[in-house]
Amino acid sequence: MTDLTYEAVVQLLRTAGCVFAEDEAALLLQSAQSPAELAAMVDRRVAGEPLEVVVGWASFCGLRIEIDAGVFVPRLRTEFLVDEAARLVELVRLVLPSEEPVVVLDLCCGSGALGVALAETLDADVELYSVDVDPVAVACARRNVAPVDGVVFEGDLDAPLPDHLLGRVEVLLANVPYVPSRVIGSMPPEARLHEPRVTLDGGPDGLDVLRRVAELAPRWLVPGGHVFVETSESQADEACAAFEAAGLTARVAVDVDREATAVVGTLLPE
Ligand SMILES: C[S@@+](CC[C@H](N)C(=O)[O-])C[C@H]1O[C@@H](n2cnc3c(N)ncnc32)[C@H](O)[C@@H]1O
Repeated sequence: MTDLTYEAVVQLLRTAGCVFAEDEAALLLQSAQSPAELAAMVDRRVAGEPLEVVVGWASFCGLRIEIDAGVFVPRLRTEFLVDEAARLVELVRLVLPSEEPVVVLDLCCGSGALGVALAETLDADVELYSVDVDPVAVACARRNVAPVDGVVFEGDLDAPLPDHLLGRVEVLLANVPYVPSRVIGSMPPEARLHEPRVTLDGGPDGLDVLRRVAELAPRWLVPGGHVFVETSESQADEACAAFEAAGLTARVAVDVDREATAVVGTLLPE
């Protein structure tokens, strides 16, 4: 077998339908430790595995986040949730200075990307707790949150959380699965075939898990604390209604460039 050149890799990727064939080829060449490994990586990519799984990491908020096979690849648009959370925490700390660590809870954490990115973004110390129901994601998240001393629990939403967090969470991040069940079949193969259904499927209208997060949020949030979820544009009003029904105030935030919609709920102090 002859060693693959950059041009050959670009050609193979382009034929397989990779839109950013040049960028991907450069990354694969950088990542492979040997010609044999490069050939194997190109084969996997051509067969449709997400690039991030093939190279083992994704870029998120400027960080290198490890991604194992079967773990949801953090999306660029989701950086908006982290930016919004950081902006609000910094605003609150400006008005009410505090030396206390910011308590952050990342539900449905997948690789753990959101929590670790927020911890790395904030100037303040952060106490980070993350949860995912999938043991493969939990193992991956544990490696990613280690540099910020985060703790990862395995289980259903807030079920595994310790009581000492009740009423203490300043930021609850929850990029839950929010794809309506009937839409999953028409998603791109990278997601449909390589990301487990539990990472995508939000039930009939996509909001089943989100509604559960809205219900549980007031128990864990400190008065004045915020919960941040991502939705599609068309789900945002329904998500606000779920937050309001749970006793939170709600607003929609949009980032046009990243095509991101976030719904931010706040537990108002009594
Ligand atoms: C859309 S992915 C988001 C992952 C990560 N937050 C991100 O943005 O990269 C949703 C994640 O929720 C997890 N999940 C789904 N249902 C859950 C539940 N009931 N409790 C905890 N985690 C859940 C999935 O395993 C998956 O990792």
